[in-house]
Amino acid sequence: MTVVAIDGPAGSGKSTLARGLARALGFVFLDTGAMYRALALAAQRAGIDPDDAERLAQLAQQVDIRFEADGEAQRVLLDGEDVSEAIRTPEISDLASRIAVHAGVRRAMVALQRALASAAHGVVAEGRDTTTVVFPDAAVKLYLDASPQERARRRQHQLQQQGIDAPYEQVLQAILERDARDAARADSPLRIADDALVIQNDGWSKEQTFEYALQLCRERLGML
Ligand code: DC
Repeated sequence: MTVVAIDGPAGSGKSTLARGLARALGFVFLDTGAMYRALALAAQRAGIDPDDAERLAQLAQQVDIRFEADGEAQRVLLDGEDVSEAIRTPEISDLASRIAVHAGVRRAMVALQRALASAAHGVVAEGRDTTTVVFPDAAVKLYLDASPQERARRRQHQLQQQGIDAPYEQVLQAILERDARDAARADSPLRIADDALVIQNDGWSKEQTFEYALQLCRERLGML
């Protein structure tokens, strides 16, 4: 199994890039953030407190989280239900980051991520710890980053497209809080792996980021 792993903060463009690379390379796309989001939604529905590490770890072992191909897109299934849209709200973004601090939750998610990947010949995984913890032997490791202001602008635009109107200042604040929580947690904090290539993409279009990263992947994977 060949792995391309991409980490970075919220709004850095990881999902768009990972999806594009997976298509171009013929690999499976593994959106690990969607898994934490699906678990957060399950916890919310079950009325579990985001600080209740024990019940969350139990839930993480019980829920059935899967991906299903839908043409070019990918659907997220939680216990068989399509939750692809329900997990993309600001509330679930915040909750996912809060439940992701618990070691028991992370253990269960990492095991599931490795199991999903092992079934594929090639995987493009993205998240916060895919280069450092989930796939430390990944063939290509990228760290995608942009300034908080640029990431907030992108996130606001994305929310607008979903019909969610959020003021810029509020989106920026949520991004800064999530950055701080994802980077400060004791278990698997967001950090740049020693052997990761950093792509700082302020002012770059999605296409520029994609072309640059695809070239890097082809070189590293000997696919030129
Ligand atoms: O990438 P995203 O915005 O969909 O991720 C949602 C949250 O899930 C993020 O704020 C932190 C958590 N997460 C994580 O802790 N580890 C990952 N590999 C992916 C996401």
